[in-house]
Amino acid sequence: MRKRQLGNLEVSSIGLGCMGMSFGYGPASDAKEMTRLIHSAIDRGVTFFDTAEVYGPFTNEELVGEALQPFRNKVVIATKFGFDLQGTRPTGLDSRPEHIKEAVEGSLKRLKIESIDLYYQHRVDPDVPIEEVAGAMQDLIREGKIKHWGLSEASVSTIRRAHKVQPLAAVQSEYSMMWRQPEENLLPALEELNIGFVPFSPLGKGFLTGSVDQNTTFDSSDFRSIVPRFKPENLKANQTLIELVQQIAANKKATSAQIALAWVLAQKPWIVPIPGTRKLERLEENLGAADIELTSEELRDLNKELSKIEIAGERYPAEHEKKIDK
Ligand SMILES: NC(=O)c1ccc[n+]([C@@H]2O[C@H](COP(=O)([O-])OP(=O)(O)OC[C@H]3O[C@@H](n4cnc5c(N)ncnc54)[C@H](OP(=O)(O)O)[C@@H]3O)[C@@H](O)[C@H]2O)c1
Repeated sequence: MRKRQLGNLEVSSIGLGCMGMSFGYGPASDAKEMTRLIHSAIDRGVTFFDTAEVYGPFTNEELVGEALQPFRNKVVIATKFGFDLQGTRPTGLDSRPEHIKEAVEGSLKRLKIESIDLYYQHRVDPDVPIEEVAGAMQDLIREGKIKHWGLSEASVSTIRRAHKVQPLAAVQSEYSMMWRQPEENLLPALEELNIGFVPFSPLGKGFLTGSVDQNTTFDSSDFRSIVPRFKPENLKANQTLIELVQQIAANKKATSAQIALAWVLAQKPWIVPIPGTRKLERLEENLGAADIELTSEELRDLNKELSKIEIAGERYPAEHEKKIDK
């Protein structure tokens, strides 16, 4: 698979989001099976793996650390800090430097590594100035505990302030045909600052693959059970988008998932999506997107059609959206 640059960090052009293996999309999957899936991703050229201490909490890092141990020198591991995980459930944000310094030790231990390749602040903490967080990252880089750092769902002004103290390699935020807000201010700023972009939920949490419709039900352990966009009436309203993606897929002899990912990849050469899956055939399908090229004409026509479609339903429940740095 071809490589892309996130700042000075080189990774495969498509990464693997590992969250759903332990968290967010129903009960945790079998660890042995997920280990085989991660190894299959490596066999197919994936060198970029995404996890976070809050996924589980902790169990996803343990799974990823164990699975990647034999391949340590061939892969880039990204993880995230920033939630208060004292209790059994994350209760709030905590990016105080003293907390970060404890969190990094836990992640290093669970991932069985001596240095984290890419360490993101998972959510901006309104109680801690970003300069203090960037200062803590600078210390961790000097100590060799992390190699690069990034922010997730951060505003452009926060990114600029952070980047001045300690340059960022990447920003991770939601981006897909269903959520195009990053195009307004975020992507131009990242281009200017030479910071890479890692879109999460590039498949619209599965919706863009066409495998979800108004009759799909979600278990209470599946985050989508509380996401407005996944309410039956919104799933129904958003089928227009699926129809458009399916039409393009048929023209390009590809699948809907592949078109969703090829569209993200075509936006900028410094964008690296991290689709998540727990199934080998879907992993293979998703990686096939790296070989699909949308010409500038195809992209222009597709974007024109996309701009006519209004997406129904919020991407997050209100209390989650409140945590997003604006
Ligand atoms: N920074 C953040 O705040 C943040 C937030 C969310 C996610 N993330 C990261 O981003 C990664 C990806 O995001 P995501 O998992 O939320 O969303 P996603 O990649 O858009 O979609 C994942 C969903 O799509 C399904 N899927 C995957 N490939 C498919 C295919 N070819 N056909 C049909 N269904 C398919 C998966 O089901 P199966 O697993 O059953 O295949 C899963 O339900 C996560 O793993 C995580 O590492 C970060």
